[in-house]
Amino acid sequence: MAAGGGARVAAAAALLALSSVSLAQPQLRRNYYAGVCPDVESIVRAAVANKYRETFITAGATVHLFFHDCFVEGCDASVLVASTPNNTAEKDHPANLVGLAGDGFDTVLRARAALDAVPRCRGKVSCADVLALATRDAIALAGGPAYAVELGRLDGLRSTAASVDGKLAPPSFDLDQLTALFARNGLSRDDMVALSAGHTVGFAHCASFAGRAARGGAGGDPAMNRSLAARVREWCPDGVDPRVAVTMDVVTPRVFDNQYFRNLQSGMGLLASDQLLYTDPRSRPTVDALARSADAFDRAFVAAITKMGRIGVKTGAQGNIRRNCAVLN
Ligand code: HEM
Ligand SMILES: *[C@@H]1O[C@H](CO)[C@@H](O)[C@H](O)[C@H]1NC(C)=O
Ligand SMILES: *[C@@H]1O[C@H](CO)[C@@H](O)[C@H](O)[C@H]1NC(C)=O
Repeated sequence: MAAGGGARVAAAAALLALSSVSLAQPQLRRNYYAGVCPDVESIVRAAVANKYRETFITAGATVHLFFHDCFVEGCDASVLVASTPNNTAEKDHPANLVGLAGDGFDTVLRARAALDAVPRCRGKVSCADVLALATRDAIALAGGPAYAVELGRLDGLRSTAASVDGKLAPPSFDLDQLTALFARNGLSRDDMVALSAGHTVGFAHCASFAGRAARGGAGGDPAMNRSLAARVREWCPDGVDPRVAVTMDVVTPRVFDNQYFRNLQSGMGLLASDQLLYTDPRSRPTVDALARSADAFDRAFVAAITKMGRIGVKTGAQGNIRRNCAVLN
C-alpha cells in the first residue's frame, strides 16, 4: 500500500515536471509537417544528396552551421540571415565569418527552394527545420548514423552579430570552459565529447591549430603527435594564405565515423579542444569508450545531436516561417 501510494505521488510529480518542461520548451515532433508537406523529408534528402554529389564539403559545412545556429539564440535559423545596411547579422560575427563555409548555406537554400517548388509545401517549412533535416542527411551521406529528426521549430525574428559574443567556443578553451558552455545549452560533458565528433568531417583553417605545431620543439603542444606536428608545419608554413584549410580527421576525413576518437588516442587530434578531450582524465574514459565501439558512438552522437536540436526552439509569436531563409520577414 505504502509503495503504491508512493508510486502515485511520484507519478503526479513526474506529470507536473513534464508539464512545466513543455511550457518552457515546446515539444517538437517527428511528423510535424504530415498534414501540409508529407514529403518534406524525401524532398530535402534529394536536394542535399545533389549538393553532396557536387562536393563532400557539404557534410562538414552543414553540420557546422547547425551547431552554430543552435548555440546562438537557439535552433532558429538566425545564423542564415544576411546582414543589411542596418544590421550586422550573426553570420558576420568573427566567430562565424571564416569558419562557416558557403556550401552549408547553399545546402539549406537549395533544400528550401526544392520544397518551395512543390505547391503544397511552398512557404510551409521553416528554415530552422530544413537545417536540422539537412544536417541529418549530410551526416548519413558521409556514412554516419541515420536518425529521426524532430520538427516544429519556427524561424527566429532577429539575428545580430552581438548575440554571438560568448556563445561559441574557441579551440583554446579548456575542458571546464567547454563543459560550462555546453551546460548552458543543456548538454552534458558526455554530450560535448560525442558532439565534438562533428570534427570527423570538415575542415579547419591553419589559424585554428597551427600554433600547436610550433617549430623547434619550443612552444608547441606536447599532446600533439610529433608526426602530425611535422605535417602541420608543412601544411601551414609561416605566412600561409589564411584561406588554407585542412581536414580535421587526418585518417578518414570524408567519413562520419568514430575514427575521430581513435585519432585522439594517438595524439592526432587537430584542434587543441579535440586533443584535450583525451588528455584530460575526466573526459578520457568517454573518448576511449566511443573509440572502442562504433555502436556506442552512433548512439551517443544521435542522442546528443537530438538534444542539441531542442535548444531554444521558437514557437507561436516567438517566430515565423521565413519566405527567404536569408531575410527576416
Ligand atoms: C567542443 C567545442 C568546439 C570547438 C572548440 C570547435 C571549434 C571548431 C573550430 C576551431 C573549427 C575550425 C574553424 C576554421 O578554422 O574554419 C571547427 C570546425 C567545425 N566544427 Fe567545431 N567546435 C566545437 C564543437 C563542434 C560541434 C558540437 C560540432 C557539431 C556537432 C562541430 C562541427 C564542426 C564542423 C563540421 C566543422 C568543419 C566545418 C567545415 O568543414 O566547413 N563543432 N570547429
Ligand atoms: C534602415 O535604416 C534606415 C535609416 O534609419 C531606414 O530608413 C530604413 O527603413 C531601414 N531599413 C530597414 C530594412 O530596416
Ligand atoms: C603517433 O601517430 C602514429 C600514427 O600516425 C602512431 O603510430 C604513434 O603511436 C603515435 N604516437 C603517440 C605518442 O601516440
